[in-house]
Amino acid sequence: MKPIIEITDLYFSYDNKNLAINNLNLIIYEKEWVAILGHNGSGKSTLAKLLIGLLEPLRGTIKVNDKILSQETVYDIRRETGIVFQNPDNQFVGSTVADDIAFGMENQQISREEMKKRIDKYIKKVRMEAYLQHEPHLLSGGQKQRVAIAGALAMDTKVLVFDEATSMLDPQGREDINTLIQELKNDGDKTIISITHDIKEAMLADRVVVMKEGTVVATGKPTEILKDETLMKDCGLDVPLTVKLSQELKKYNIINDIYVNQEDLVKSLWEYSLIK
Ligand SMILES: Nc1ncnc2c1ncn2[C@@H]1O[C@H](COP(=O)(O)OP(=O)(O)O)[C@@H](O)[C@H]1O
Ligand SMILES: [Mg+2]
Repeated sequence: MKPIIEITDLYFSYDNKNLAINNLNLIIYEKEWVAILGHNGSGKSTLAKLLIGLLEPLRGTIKVNDKILSQETVYDIRRETGIVFQNPDNQFVGSTVADDIAFGMENQQISREEMKKRIDKYIKKVRMEAYLQHEPHLLSGGQKQRVAIAGALAMDTKVLVFDEATSMLDPQGREDINTLIQELKNDGDKTIISITHDIKEAMLADRVVVMKEGTVVATGKPTEILKDETLMKDCGLDVPLTVKLSQELKKYNIINDIYVNQEDLVKSLWEYSLIK
């Protein structure tokens, strides 16, 4: 696997006193889907902003696609990295939804015709086709997130960063977006970094990275990380219900393992009921 993002000894401070990013090291490989988990204030959004050069590190380096992020490379890197921010309000510039999606593509030298094609394709993917001519600021939070996602996808970048991009959506909306990310993943040429609170979304990722106090404290397969109750609690994260339930059932020797995945838990309960 080839690294696409390499972060080395990264430090950042907003106030020259407290470190929002504190000696962070992380490699993300091409075509990986990485979910970043961490309590509020652990530095996830700061990391996302550093990644696209919106903030400048105090120390350390970020390499994207073999280019070290600097004033000279920042525009190239932004052309290769789509991002959906946590608060979509900061992301709208156009007077209509369609303008807004077009905006991201504007400095990519894409023909008008191709732009229109992509706008139509991605607005449908996020189920917002009825709103193309609407004013973005009049949309609900969830609708804004959908439009922001369509905008990032339309840029067709190698790397996509979603910073809690589905936090304002209802469960169905979240599932739609997760399906969409899964499709992108299956198409097979994108690297996806999703900062999320959603356990289901983290379960779908290839790898989970856990952040605490501005640094990476653990990384591994979603099932390994999510069933590590000590780690999850130590990082202020919710232990999945399936894990808590497994622990109770294990105490009574009903099952032998801790399950993160609901289907696996149900399966082992079936096995137990058949033995009895
Ligand atoms: N614009 C800002 N000015 C000053 N401090 C900030 C700013 N944004 C975030 N911080 C601080 O930096 C730390 C990391 O914040 P953030 O990256 O937003 O965390 P997360 O996204 O994981 O919730 C927190 O202590 C937060 O209070
Ligand atoms: Mg954040």
